[in-house]
Amino acid sequence: MYKDIVYPADRAEFYRTLYNEVKLYTADSEDFISRLSNASAVLKIAFPKANWAGFYLEKDGKLVLGPFQGRPAVTVIEKGKGVCGAAWERGEAIVVEEVSCFEGHIACDCNTHSEIVLPIYRGEKFVGVLDMDSVEPAYFTEFDREGLKQILDLINK
Ligand code: SME
Repeated sequence: MYKDIVYPADRAEFYRTLYNEVKLYTADSEDFISRLSNASAVLKIAFPKANWAGFYLEKDGKLVLGPFQGRPAVTVIEKGKGVCGAAWERGEAIVVEEVSCFEGHIACDCNTHSEIVLPIYRGEKFVGVLDMDSVEPAYFTEFDREGLKQILDLINK
């Protein structure tokens, strides 16, 4: 059963705690989709100002909506489109402080102000992206880029 925990304010400790939480709720699963589902739930809880946390997975050359927590979202994103498609095209994580300033941003929830997207690779192969949105401007930082990368390495097996 899920047990609520208090996340430390210190960012390094926060990520140690988050890593352990994600591990706790994903380690027993052989199934990638199940791990992504629980990871999105843990992430949404850990970031209280996040209004969306989830995954888009590559299918037939497009990004298709995968497991997530939050409001219903766009189901298909083309490579190069939106923040998600841009992260795929660039092959790197993108931190957006104010989404209205990101050209081509795809709005799913009018309350969203900031966003972080990390591409996921298995070896050389692009698998999809982790996408997180927040109602607060500049909620995600470069520190999150690194911390979330380690979370993805944990579940992407
Ligand atoms: N904002 C994203 C679209 C997905 S939703 O935020 C869940 C983008 O611009 O790619």
